[in-house]
Amino acid sequence: MKKLVLYSLLSGLFFNFIYIAESEANQRSVNVYSFRHVELIKPLINEFTKQTGIKVNVVSGKADKLMQRLIQDGDNSFADVLLTVGAAKLDKAKQLKLIKPINSSILQANVPEDLRDPDNYWFALSLRVRAIFYAKDRVKPQLLPSYESLLNNRWLGKICSRTGNHFYNRTMVASFVYHYGEDWTKNWVQKFSENLAMRPNGNDRDQMRKVARGDCDIAIANSYYYGMLSSSVKQSDREVYQKLGIILPQNMKTGSHVNISGAALTSSAKNVDNAIKFIEFLTTKKAQKIYAYNNFEFPVRADIPAGNFIETWGKLNADTLSILHLSAYSKKAAEVISQSNW
Ligand SMILES: [Fe+2]
Repeated sequence: MKKLVLYSLLSGLFFNFIYIAESEANQRSVNVYSFRHVELIKPLINEFTKQTGIKVNVVSGKADKLMQRLIQDGDNSFADVLLTVGAAKLDKAKQLKLIKPINSSILQANVPEDLRDPDNYWFALSLRVRAIFYAKDRVKPQLLPSYESLLNNRWLGKICSRTGNHFYNRTMVASFVYHYGEDWTKNWVQKFSENLAMRPNGNDRDQMRKVARGDCDIAIANSYYYGMLSSSVKQSDREVYQKLGIILPQNMKTGSHVNISGAALTSSAKNVDNAIKFIEFLTTKKAQKIYAYNNFEFPVRADIPAGNFIETWGKLNADTLSILHLSAYSKKAAEVISQSNW
């Protein structure tokens, strides 16, 4: 029996958490490489094991590190399932032949067509919105209905954002290039960066903290971080949640930019049947609800409500049309961003 723990430690401390050690091709198990801390996906795993008796072994790490590990290990990889974020990253895994197609009528029925790879290499499991956040005591949300409204010069020196080159921002810009073309997007990026309060630094949650502190009035960040702040063990973070409002941009013809978290079967998978069962499970009603309630993400299934809590954030009009094009427009987006101070 080979031990994942030993293997991972010996070959470099890539992962921030190593969950379980198990056999390479155990009949009743499935090995998952996950971009997320096991704590976040634990409720999903527990439910799956309860329903099927199949044990789930998780190695968690950053998305790019997991991908590197899959490349390095090739056919010897232990991973059966890749759980990661970003349609472009999943497309990259497809191009690099790290994942293989799944022929599953369950997945085809549960995951809408614009949220899965056309050749069935990957399937979206949840949606995350690039949202606008504002200081409730200083900003009227009616003035910020859309991404375009961030360009108004009344917000000069008032907006906080992490660096434009981070893939959360880059893919949003890629969706703009796809929908509106290069000139429109160049103008958006230029004017947006002129309105920044400071040189971009920190992560998404830091931008919200800056708004709460009064360093700026508006931030852009991913929606689930707002949910995480609401239930943080730190009182200071819960206060950030109280001080900020969220806007799911509505007015542009395309609605809110969303990216996905998704799953794929690795090319090296040994536990193929269990892996497919696990991915199918993640699209069931029960699992989709867990994504909404525990991870503060929006379900991919139209028949699953987002739940009482995140529904208070407003009605989501998700731009799912650009998902399958984010990869193709990422390079152009990076080029446009590099010409600005963002
Ligand atoms: Fe994130």
